[in-house]
Amino acid sequence: MQINLDTKPFASLETDALVTYLFEDSAPVQGRIAELDKLAGGLLTRLAKSGELTGKNLEFTLVHAPAGLKAARLLLVGAGKREQANPATLRKVAGAALRYLKARGVHKLAFLVRENDLTADAAQATTEGALTADFETDKYKTDKKNDKSIESLTVSGYADTEKSATEKGIARGRTIADAQNFARDLVNEPSNKLTPRILADKAEAMAREAGLAVEVLDEKKIADLKMGALLSVAQGSVEPPRMIVITYAPANPKPGAPVIGLVGKAVTFDTGGISIKPSDGMEKMKYDMAGGATMIGVMRALATLKPNVKVICVVPATENMPGGKAQKPGDIQTAMSGKTIEVLNTDAEGRLILADGIHYAKQLGATHLVDAATLTGAVVVALANVNVGVFGSDQAWTDKLLASAKAAGEKMWQLPTDDEYREFIKGSFADIQNISSGKGGGAITGAMFLKEFSGDTPWIHLDIAGTAWNDDAKPWLAKGPTGVALRTLVHLVTSL
Ligand code: BES
Ligand code: MN
Ligand code: ZN
Repeated sequence: MQINLDTKPFASLETDALVTYLFEDSAPVQGRIAELDKLAGGLLTRLAKSGELTGKNLEFTLVHAPAGLKAARLLLVGAGKREQANPATLRKVAGAALRYLKARGVHKLAFLVRENDLTADAAQATTEGALTADFETDKYKTDKKNDKSIESLTVSGYADTEKSATEKGIARGRTIADAQNFARDLVNEPSNKLTPRILADKAEAMAREAGLAVEVLDEKKIADLKMGALLSVAQGSVEPPRMIVITYAPANPKPGAPVIGLVGKAVTFDTGGISIKPSDGMEKMKYDMAGGATMIGVMRALATLKPNVKVICVVPATENMPGGKAQKPGDIQTAMSGKTIEVLNTDAEGRLILADGIHYAKQLGATHLVDAATLTGAVVVALANVNVGVFGSDQAWTDKLLASAKAAGEKMWQLPTDDEYREFIKGSFADIQNISSGKGGGAITGAMFLKEFSGDTPWIHLDIAGTAWNDDAKPWLAKGPTGVALRTLVHLVTSL
């Protein structure tokens, strides 16, 4: 999809559809909506009076052959309450409009940014909304509807003097949305098409193309480095594990600057192992590598955005299978850090592979850590598919991430890591155990396990089990992988 900026007056834009948005307000017809209304001879005022045009969140009003415009259609999208609006609103509105029009065979649209929103951030959000909305998960369908595609989006409403800043916003939006869609593409792949080796190959190809340093550790190197926790999960599968390491290094690093370690869980399929999962819904466990995909996607964006800090991305990749060599409940493993782990449930495998990933990231020089993982069903119980679960060992570092989440329009909610929870994973026969002996606090238990391996290094854990996959399509996003947390992490790293 092409995205371009046009500073012509909107009435003279030639396009299949001119899109703008209005707010739920006692007077929704104001500003640019009033200008449109005037051109259309009061049509919008009449629609508002009749109750058909209210500005309610994601209400669509489509007018064909609108008077006074060169556009073939005018689409008005409700944006909800003005006081609740932010860049995330624009992202959704632009995305929902694109999907609405794409379904109706429209190929070209222009998006008119409202008079009070003319910032580079708004242009970025519009671009992100459109590109992520355009992403489809029909890769393996042989009867693709090729006639239903969007060729171009024209961002409009800006003055000529705002051109260069707006174009920068659009370019940044494209970099981030392309990276998010790259991650979603990986998550969409079924496990027979994306084994740990194939994921590593794809990450390596991306890194080489983007000019990033990359190293993939094979099963032998993983064994040499004594990554016993990762190996214990991998031993039940005929597919060998991989440890993917991608590094971004700035041209002029500041001495003493932080080094960010991004660690992502990539279980390309999670059967549960010997503690096998029920068959109902098990097919979804192909998305158990979403944390890894997000981190690889973040690196892709950083290669273009060139922040001034060094970032090391570490992605342990494996299957979790109940093969003849699989680990069994009660087995005791030694992690790379030297800590011993009693594996009471082989389905709590994400924390095992991340234990070695986190330790390795520290060994490679990370001074600040973030991990992302589809770690627990318990986080879905706590926060459903709305908020990412956030856990942290250092409040200043965690606050930075939460501020970035806000700025990037991703909902995240912090959960506690009090010392009391540490008791949950105290081992009977080893240093620690991989599940709690008691009941409750499942998402926290997972976080506390990871915290053991972060040590004194400021660390954040993002549990994206509930948010990395949409069970139903949203008006602005296809069903399936969401690419959640990528925008927040790109914001975090580029704002340090
Ligand atoms: N990959 C799952 C977590 C998950 C659940 C992701 C639902 C996405 C949707 C993880 O490896 C797992 O199986 N966790 C167990 C932990 C338990 C054994 C302590 C869980 O949540 O049931
Ligand atoms: Mn599991
Ligand atoms: Zn898992």
